[in-house]
Amino acid sequence: MNEKHDSLIPRPVRDSQSEMDEFVLPNDANPLGALLGGRLMHWIDMAGALAAHRHSRNYVVTASIDHMDFHTPVHVGDLVILRSSVNRVFNTSMEVGVKAWVENYLLNESRLVSSAYLTFVAVDAAGRHLKVPPVIPETDVQKRRYEDAGRRREIRKAERERKRRNA
Ligand SMILES: CC(C)(COP(=O)(O)OP(=O)(O)OC[C@H]1O[C@@H](n2cnc3c(N)ncnc32)[C@H](O)[C@@H]1OP(=O)(O)O)[C@@H](O)C(=O)NCCC(=O)NCCS
Repeated sequence: MNEKHDSLIPRPVRDSQSEMDEFVLPNDANPLGALLGGRLMHWIDMAGALAAHRHSRNYVVTASIDHMDFHTPVHVGDLVILRSSVNRVFNTSMEVGVKAWVENYLLNESRLVSSAYLTFVAVDAAGRHLKVPPVIPETDVQKRRYEDAGRRREIRKAERERKRRNA
């Protein structure tokens, strides 16, 4: 098998599931010491890209980030854990889910801060789109996310069409 063929062999979700940890520092926060929403969005983008890179084994660009809510305030000194996994691959794009948790390492507790679905497109060094190998969901949760990602893709497509028509 040549390298190009090898690179399109399906891979399980677990192979690219990723974790990124960040301590909240004063430069990440507003004057009240609370984590800036924009900084968290940046970390979510990075954590999502980690899983997308690992799955596709290529460069990726962020095509979209779905709606985000911020459930819990996070403060300077807190530890934020970001977990990402590839939910589904389409053709050149893939949906990645990211969850951000704030962990109280003194009490051994964690609370969900935010979550998001991101779409990444695999590209080569010249920016040309590349086909992404299929992802294999194994657990019940991964299978549910896979099914749901298909429905979300249809919603995104419809919304893009609507915007295009109204542009
Ligand atoms: C995202 C980007 C690669 C799409 O390229 P395009 O030529 O406009 O889009 P195409 O119609 O060829 O679609 C390519 C793939 O992207 C997907 N896609 C395009 N726009 C999308 C969007 N807004 N949301 C989700 N997926 C999107 C398509 O569904 C398609 O997926 P598929 O191959 O799996 O079916 C291009 O718009 C781009 O480079 N944007 C800038 C990316 C960037 O710089 N991100 C960092 C933030 S600034």
